[in-house]
Amino acid sequence: MNKDFDVIIIGAGAAGLMCAIEAGKRGRRVWLVDHAKKTAEKIRISGGGRCNFTNIHTKPVNFLSQNPHFCKSALSRYTPRDFIALVKKHGIKWHEKTLGQLFCDDSSQQIIDMLLKECADAGVRLDMETSVDAIERAEGGNSGSGYIVRTSRGAQQAPSVVIATGGLSIPKIGATRFGFDIARQFGLNVLDTRAALVPLTFQNALLERCKEMTGLSVDATVKTEGGRAFSEGLLFTHRGLSGPSILQISSYWLEGQSINVNLTRGVDVFEVLKNHKNSQPKQEIQNALSDILPKRLAQSICDELDIKGRIAELSDKVLMAIATRVNEWQIKPSGTEGYRTAEVTLGGVDTSELSSQTMESRKAPGLYFIGEVVDVTGHLGGFNFQWAWASGHAAGQSA
Ligand code: FDA
Repeated sequence: MNKDFDVIIIGAGAAGLMCAIEAGKRGRRVWLVDHAKKTAEKIRISGGGRCNFTNIHTKPVNFLSQNPHFCKSALSRYTPRDFIALVKKHGIKWHEKTLGQLFCDDSSQQIIDMLLKECADAGVRLDMETSVDAIERAEGGNSGSGYIVRTSRGAQQAPSVVIATGGLSIPKIGATRFGFDIARQFGLNVLDTRAALVPLTFQNALLERCKEMTGLSVDATVKTEGGRAFSEGLLFTHRGLSGPSILQISSYWLEGQSINVNLTRGVDVFEVLKNHKNSQPKQEIQNALSDILPKRLAQSICDELDIKGRIAELSDKVLMAIATRVNEWQIKPSGTEGYRTAEVTLGGVDTSELSSQTMESRKAPGLYFIGEVVDVTGHLGGFNFQWAWASGHAAGQSA
């Protein structure tokens, strides 16, 4: 049996690359393998090609997990500041777009090149287009003899194996169930998964309404029945609703529930319309409403409610009906666009199976899980990469 490496990392995405760098820097002989042709495809396509690589306001509350405390240790030991220092060291220019979200000025490829350079400097051996057929416990059981990893490039035995194969989103660029299957194989609990940070879909009349408005965006506040709220952009699409506020709420929305949408964040529409009634009584209602909303949307809402005419001719009750439709639009999504377009996967390897310090499995010593495969999912805005860096760093100190 070949024993050329101390650490075998499966998945050369954000978490796997960071883990490889850290383990390599400790003098560990690291083999990083991935079945895809290209390294870190998700980094490449992230942030519209500019990679929202971290968020300077990262806090544990920005993450969903069955155990909200699990992420604290890793996040506190590798912070956005640490990653920014790495980015600066490589001369990559970046800017804060909004809400603490940091993006490359030029291209996400710079982040990939930076990580690959760090891997090379740390002596990491990277093999792409390498499939993993099986992982078995090596003879000798739990006592440090580790695991045999059977790959398309032959078998290797190593004391530490790190699973960094990510979640299920965007299968066409290499996402697989591999990490969850390996966790189950070694007796670890895997929590149900579902697509998150994903557009919401609608049916029938609601879908038609969204289609009519395709491409139009507003500054909205979206709330779940449970009271979780996000105030960011909302975009109408030919399938339903998208945009940051909808992607954020999709992580909290449960099938069958309604969402409450305020299409004019911070504007009391009833008050505005009443003021219009006094100051411009001859104004047509759709024109009054288009002072607050995009014209097309204002017209569509008036058509939907079958309200027309001059504002002076409309009762307060009618104005209230319009205001409610704008400020408290209660709608029931039929579903989500699913893993095809989701940015992340909720659920995954149960954190109670792992050490929060090292990401090592309690039941299978020497076997680590990092990044999105673990039941830690960030909000939109650079938090998911920060988790990938932090969990990769934590495992890289131990594996
Ligand atoms: P990641 O998915 O990055 O890497 C897993 C690797 O494992 C892949 O290279 C894959 O090929 C490999 N692999 C899978 N199965 C395998 C197998 N069976 N054998 C061998 N290799 C295997 N986050 C953020 O913070 N800011 C952002 O701007 C964005 N933007 C964004 C845009 C889009 C379109 C998506 C889909 C996602 C984002 N994200 C994001 C989320 C972010 O990309 C994601 O959370 C991290 O990439 C997760 O890092 P991991 O290393 O865990 O998995």
